[in-house]
Amino acid sequence: MKQLPRSILPLIVGLLATVSLANAAQVQDPIRRGRALVGEFCSRCHAVARFGNSPNRNAMPFRTLGRNFDLDQFPRLLERGISSTHPDMPEFKFSEDDAHAAAAYVRSIQR
Ligand code: HEC
Repeated sequence: MKQLPRSILPLIVGLLATVSLANAAQVQDPIRRGRALVGEFCSRCHAVARFGNSPNRNAMPFRTLGRNFDLDQFPRLLERGISSTHPDMPEFKFSEDDAHAAAAYVRSIQR
């Protein structure tokens, strides 16, 4: 079998390193992951960014959630599945990691 040109090896090694760094960053950045999660599951009703109004008038923006709600309870709530008294609020269940990521994100945007 023909050998790969030597000059291509550092390129391959570099590419592999970049890919595994990107994976590590995803695992190590729960806030980004949390933002993606609440964006997917909650943004239909709640404002999930630092700015903007909630699409559902009755749903509080997440950046002020900490005012009326104990954020320490948030991960546990997400893992157990949120079932608010409000009928508009669907039932959710997050894995432990996802719950902590979502909580970390919500904490990061509190005002
Ligand atoms: C279909 C609309 C809708 C979606 C989707 C939704 N919510 Fe809500 N949520 C509401 C409404 C409306 C309220 C206000 C309920 C009330 O005042 O009784 C609320 C209230 C809450 C509260 C406060 C509950 C309490 O007991 O005080 C939390 C926490 C919350 N939502 C988190 C979430 C999270 C996290 C997600 C995504 C995983 C989500 N919501 C998705 C509509 C929604």
